[in-house]
Formats: sequence, structure tokens, C-alpha cells
Amino acid sequence: MPESAANCLCLFRRILTALLVCWQGRTNVNTELADIGIIGAGQLARMMHQAAIPLGIRVRILAGSRSESAAQVAPDVVLGSPDDPVAVANFAQTCRVVTFDHELVEVEKLERVDLPAAHWCPSPAVMRVSQSKRLQRECFTRLGLPLPRFCLSSSEGERAAFIKKVGFPLMVKADRGGYDGRGVWKAEDTAEFNQIIEALASRNTLPILEERVDIDRELAILVVRNPSGAESVYPLVQTVQSDGILRELIAPAPESSSLVAEAGAIALTLARALEVDGILAVELFQSKGKLLVNEIASRPHNSGHYTIEGCETSQFEQHLRASLDWPLGATAMISPVAVTVNLIGRGQPALDQWRLKDALAVKGVHIHVYGKEPRVGRKIGHVTALGYQTNEVLARARIAASILNED
Ligand SMILES: Nc1ncnc2c1ncn2[C@@H]1O[C@H](COP(=O)(O)OP(=O)(O)OP(=O)(O)O)[C@@H](O)[C@H]1O
Ligand SMILES: [Mg+2]
Repeated sequence: MPESAANCLCLFRRILTALLVCWQGRTNVNTELADIGIIGAGQLARMMHQAAIPLGIRVRILAGSRSESAAQVAPDVVLGSPDDPVAVANFAQTCRVVTFDHELVEVEKLERVDLPAAHWCPSPAVMRVSQSKRLQRECFTRLGLPLPRFCLSSSEGERAAFIKKVGFPLMVKADRGGYDGRGVWKAEDTAEFNQIIEALASRNTLPILEERVDIDRELAILVVRNPSGAESVYPLVQTVQSDGILRELIAPAPESSSLVAEAGAIALTLARALEVDGILAVELFQSKGKLLVNEIASRPHNSGHYTIEGCETSQFEQHLRASLDWPLGATAMISPVAVTVNLIGRGQPALDQWRLKDALAVKGVHIHVYGKEPRVGRKIGHVTALGYQTNEVLARARIAASILNED
């Protein structure tokens, strides 16, 4: 072969190889079918991956980077953004079912992928509702569930009439994009209310006005459903929030026997009406002794971390079973009381080994660290303790958490 032709061929090969590497880098396709794909690689994906191991479920994770919580520990990671429709479509095609670590995925992008709704757990229709506080309120109202009074109107007159009816202080919530209280504000008067509405105008999300209810305490309940229609309810739990972040959880909720049946019925009504596959978490307020629905999340939830050690089947295993339409596990608690205390980042360096050793010396505590940078206000881990008496169990979990949180 003449030298020039050989050079040409060599160049052609190089270009072809470069293009192939580029394409693989972009799509990161592993064509072997995974049982479950998880979009997002936060701590929920990390704990789902952990639950998949004993069942031999092959999990694949779509992660933005290798440093994300689940991507640090799972062997089968595809790099790509959950916002990139090409990455999501390619990823989904290599998994039998796809579920989610968080709900910040654009539903339109899922619907554009040429796969049936049953490929997603939950379906895009359920994701649409769990992403939107407006759709949730419309759904709760349609189903006749109790909830705080709200106003969805953007008319100034209707808003003024609503405020006159419920008075200040008033809650204002962003329809979409909020979590850990980041889309929720309390307005003490008209001036504060106007400031919030002005700030929200640039965020392209509908402001929802809601009466501020007198909360006796906050509660949560998980329900799980599989595509064949099997369903199961977890115990009602009490949550303690501050600055919009869940700090502590007590399972079962103390002195709640009169509320358990109603809370379970609310959760099942929602799961059935929305045809949820997988875990559905329902956040509730107890106000003047009565239950009010606050919001839902269609995925494993922070109010269910206690189920890892505290229940016969953890919410993470249950979500995987439901995603694959396998039989559900028992939801009963295996101890009279379980308590979870969240570890919240305070900008200090990551949890070091010495503090971990000291915390592990506290009797019977289960420590979970998520491998996340401890940015202020970020959930970076949790401690669960089991036992017989709420105050004693809570004290133990708090001691371990405070050792881990020490400067
Ligand atoms: N109508 C209300 N009246 C009184 N307090 C409220 C009301 N709505 C919300 N709150 C308080 O604000 C917290 C956060 O509200 P909400 O659950 O709506 O926000 P979020 O940011 O979506 O939360 P999450 O992180 O659970 O998704 C609640 O847990 C509660 O403490
Ligand atoms: Mg909430």
C-alpha cells in the first residue's frame, strides 16, 4: 500500500476511535440489562443499592459524578445528568425498571423516551404530582382529604380575599423545586408577603398561599404498593422538624392509637388513587388533635430510615421489591421503639474516624454516613437506635449524633 494511503487509513482509524470514545463517554452505555436503574446518586440511591445486595438485584445508577453518595459505593455507575434527555433515554434502555433518588427530574423528558409508563417506578404521571405542591393540593381536595386551606389563584383580588379569611402569619410555598424547607416561607405581614411574591416572580414557579396551622406535632406514614396491586402500610411515626429539615423521628408515634387508622386510610387512598408503584410517603400535621395532609413523596423518604433496623422489611428493600413487582415484605416493627436522629452538615470537615469510634461506643446505635461534603444544612447521615422506652432510646441516639456533630 502506498505510504499516503496507509497514513490516510491510520488517520481514519484514529478519528473513528476518538468518535467511539467520545460517544461512549457521552452515553456511557453498558448494554447488559440491569434489574433496576436509579436516576440520581444521593443517599437514597446509596441505601437502595445496599438493600439490593442480599437479593442479588443488579442495580445501575445514573450519577452526575463519581463523588456522589451512591456513586462512591456502587460498582455499576453511568455518568450523565438526570437533566440530559439523551443520557436518561440511553440509561433507561439498559434497565428493566427505572426508579428515582429524587423527584427533580423533568417528567416531559421521561415521557419523550420511547418506553412504556410501566418501565418507570413510579410512573411519570405520579412523578408529575409528587413534584408539584399545586397538583398535590388539587389531588387531596378531589379525594376529600383534610388539608390546610390554600389559594392557588394569581389574581391579586382573590389573594387579598384569602389573606383576609386566614390572616397573618401566612405560609407561601413554591409549587415546584423546594425541599428541606427551601421552597417554604412564613410571611408575618403584607410587606413580607409582597417581598416573597416579588422574589418568587423570577423563579418561574407558582406561589401557593396557605394558612399557617397550629401544629401540635408532625407525623408521617409510608405505604408501599406493587404493580399487581399488593399494598402494605408502615407504622405512623412522629417527626420533629426545624428550619424545614427533619431532625428526629420516633416510631411508632407516641399516643397515636386514635390516629393510626385514619392516617393509614389517607395513605392508602392516595396510593390507590394515584396508582403509585413503590413507596409513597405522606407527611401529616396533627393540629388541634386532627390530621391534615401536608405533602407526599413517591420514593423512599427520610421518615422511613428507621425501617432499616426497626422493621421486618426496610423501605429500601420494599421499594425494590415493588419496582420489580415482587411480593412485598412485612412492615411490622421488630422493636417496641425506634428513633432516628439526622446528622446535619455544619460546614465542619467530614466525620473523622475518632468521632465515629466514640459514637459507636454508645450502646446499640446504628450509624449511617452518606459520604457527603458536610455543607451547612445538608443531611450527611443518620443514627438509629432501638429499644423499649422512647426517652431512653432518644437519649442514646442523641448522644451518638452529638458526638458525630462535635466540632
Ligand atoms: N401550613 C403550614 N402551617 C404551619 N407550618 C407549616 C405549614 N406548611 C409547612 N410548615 C412547616 O414547614 C415545613 C416544611 O414544609 P413542607 O413540608 O411543605 O416543605 P418542603 O420543603 O417541601 O419539605 P420536604 O423537605 O419535606 O419536601 C413543614 O415540615 C412544617 O414544619
Ligand atoms: Mg415536607
